[in-house]
Amino acid sequence: MIKKLLPYSKKYIPYAILSPLFIVCEVMMEVRIPFTMAKIVDYGIMRQDISAIYSNGLVMVVMALISLVCGALAARFAAVAGIGFGSEVRKGVFGKIQDFSFSNTDKFSTASLITRLTTDINMVQNTFMMSLRMFIRAPLMLVSAVTYATRINSKLAAVFFAVVPLMAVVMALFGGIAFPRFKVMFEKYDKFNSSVQENLIAIRVVKAYVRSKFEKEKFKDSNDDLKKASVNAEKLMTVASPFMMFMMYSCIVAVLWFGSRLILGDQMKVGELASFISYITQILMSLMMLSVVFVMSVISRASITRLCEIIDEVPDISDKGADPSLEVADGSVEFKNIYFKYGDGKYILENINLSISSGETIGIIGGTGSSKTSLVQLIPRLYDADEGEVIVGGRHVKDYTLENLRQSVSMTLQKNLLFSGTIEQNLRWGDENASLDELRKVSEIAQADNFVSEFTHGYATELGQGGVNVSGGQKQRLCIARALLKKPKILILDDSTSAVDTHTDSKIREGLKKFRSGMTTIIIAQRIHSIESADRIVVLDNGKIDSIGTHSELLKTSEIYKEVYVSQLEGSDED
Ligand SMILES: Nc1ncnc2c1ncn2[C@@H]1O[C@H](COP(=O)(O)OP(=O)(O)OP(=O)(O)O)[C@@H](O)[C@H]1O
Ligand SMILES: [Mg+2]
Repeated sequence: MIKKLLPYSKKYIPYAILSPLFIVCEVMMEVRIPFTMAKIVDYGIMRQDISAIYSNGLVMVVMALISLVCGALAARFAAVAGIGFGSEVRKGVFGKIQDFSFSNTDKFSTASLITRLTTDINMVQNTFMMSLRMFIRAPLMLVSAVTYATRINSKLAAVFFAVVPLMAVVMALFGGIAFPRFKVMFEKYDKFNSSVQENLIAIRVVKAYVRSKFEKEKFKDSNDDLKKASVNAEKLMTVASPFMMFMMYSCIVAVLWFGSRLILGDQMKVGELASFISYITQILMSLMMLSVVFVMSVISRASITRLCEIIDEVPDISDKGADPSLEVADGSVEFKNIYFKYGDGKYILENINLSISSGETIGIIGGTGSSKTSLVQLIPRLYDADEGEVIVGGRHVKDYTLENLRQSVSMTLQKNLLFSGTIEQNLRWGDENASLDELRKVSEIAQADNFVSEFTHGYATELGQGGVNVSGGQKQRLCIARALLKKPKILILDDSTSAVDTHTDSKIREGLKKFRSGMTTIIIAQRIHSIESADRIVVLDNGKIDSIGTHSELLKTSEIYKEVYVSQLEGSDED
């Protein structure tokens, strides 16, 4: 798994190598210091030799300085490499998500994608940074400190050989118990994030349904769960640290005990004992570092797994096999024996055969869930059909690059959104280089120009996130204008005027007719009124085509159509 993330560190390899190199240098100096200190005590102080104090003292200061500089450089390089690596992973994962098709995104919740992009990547970044600094440092320090201590007095060093393995075992035990607890903590964190996020995204719905109390309870539950899991995981750490301290002081007492006897027996010098104690600290420190790296890498394993899930997700709609020079010739569309399902579900489109000629206006009607949206989504390849062929402009949709195909097919999604920014910026999604006249022209057709002009700042009016400060019907009209600005060969309006009054709806349709000759228009609507003037109307029923024909033909031939017509007529009579 780590291998999959490593390519992201490529740019920072020099830093990732420099950091451990400086660490080696730092450790080499650090472990020499107690050794030199022993000389100062034993040769300088005990024998009252000032020159030994000076010379060894100078060596010690120089070593401390080198160690300081090397340590600072190592930390800096590790930070550059770690942060750089994190930012590359973030870029990579975000880019990957951009390549996802609709069916890829169906697999991950928004909250989980955000947690992965933030918390998980931070975790991996910190572990990478820590590992760079500790992974070499801890074992190197451990080995060198033990070696120096043994050189000073091998008998006394036996104390280490008794204590170090014992501590290593205890550490491993701690790690073993801690990992599952941290894993649980992260899962709870994930749940907590999704619950908060869902609430914030739907805060208006929460308020409208007066669900705040329920949401607060839900928040309290997930917050309490998180708290419990965190306390459970950290509890172990609170024991670990005092335990290490206890072991360290026991070790020091043992060394002092045995050491003083050796000194009294003239087998050891006072300075050597002092430096021995410094080595104990270094050895125990490195053991602690090792355990921290161990625990961190174990915890970040969960994060790495979650990141790899995104990296491994294969975008199921791509330009593979497409001809980049191929442009959509005209607005004709043909569905040949189409079968389609979401994921592993059952087929929700079956045996669809439909041929639409360029420039035709097609209405699609059918009950909710009759797969109207699913059918038209196949044209700009938001999803791919499981069986059968979708032909656009005389060629298979897979022959075009996604860019060329989607440039010619403009679709207003049923759940359309605008972005934060001005109205003009939002419309320009359709065409960055459109002139202001063109912008106005499409807005007039979409019946948006009149209300936009009434805003104090006109087209420079700032829209809130998702377009909160325009009404539902206004948002729909802006979305139609945005789609028109693309000057598409095929325009698909999926329930795009559902929130627009019938009068404005008619005006939009009139405008569309004049907008571009040869533009195929596919209108999905619930109101017969919105589609009755279409060249042909397709009646969908439960994922199958029930009938095709003009308004008057269908009134004679299609039971479903007639039923909808009559019910809507009655409805409007009652108004
Ligand atoms: N992303 C999805 N994942 C799984 N199932 C889906 C998804 N989108 C739609 N469906 C299912 O596919 C079926 C057809 O849905 P579709 O959105 O195409 O209907 P529709 O005719 O557009 O309905 P409406 O008039 O309400 O917009 C429904 O049963 C729905 O539950
Ligand atoms: Mg729909």
